[in-house]
Amino acid sequence: MANIQRTLAIVKPDAVAKKAAGQIMARIEESGLEVVGLKRMQLDEEMARGFYAVHKERPFFGDLVKFMTSGPVVVLALEGEDAIKRWRDLMGPTNSNEAPAGTMRGDFGTDIERNATHGSDAPETARLELAYFFNAGEIQGLVEALP
Ligand code: RTP
Ligand code: MG
Repeated sequence: MANIQRTLAIVKPDAVAKKAAGQIMARIEESGLEVVGLKRMQLDEEMARGFYAVHKERPFFGDLVKFMTSGPVVVLALEGEDAIKRWRDLMGPTNSNEAPAGTMRGDFGTDIERNATHGSDAPETARLELAYFFNAGEIQGLVEALP
C-alpha cells in the first residue's frame, strides 16, 4: 500500500549562506521526493520561537532562535512515498559532527546546532509545520487529498 506523505524541510541559515540550497534541492529531487512548495524568507524572532516552541524550555532555545533568525532560510514542502522518514534519513542525525558524509548534515552542517536542515519528525508535526509556513494554494501537490 502506498503511503504518500508530505513533510516540511527547511534549509537553515548556515546552509543558505554557504550557497548550498541548490545542492540540497538537487539531492531531494534525485532521491525521488517531489518539491511541491517553496519559499525563501527571513524568519523574525516570533516566527522562529513559534516554530520551535516545543523546545522552549531547553537550554539551547535562545541560541537556536538566534541561529534561525541569523539569515534567510529556504522552506520546502516535500511529497512522496514515506516522505517524512526519507527526508530525515537524507538529513542524517541532528549533530553534524556525527552525521555521515553524503547526508545533508554531514556535508553542509557544522555542529549540533548549525546543522544545515530541518525535517518534520511525524505526520502530525508535518501537518502543523506545513500549515505554519504555507497557505493551501501555495502547495501544488501531486496527490489530491492528503490529511
Ligand atoms: P530539526 O527539528 O531542526 O529537524 O532537528 P532534530 O529534530 O534533528 O533535532 P531537535 O531535537 O528537534 O532540535 C532542534 C534543533 O535545535 C538545535 N539543537 N541545538 N545545542 C544543542 O544541544 C542543540 N540541540 C539541538 C539544532 O539546530 C536542532 O536541529
Ligand atoms: Mg526536531
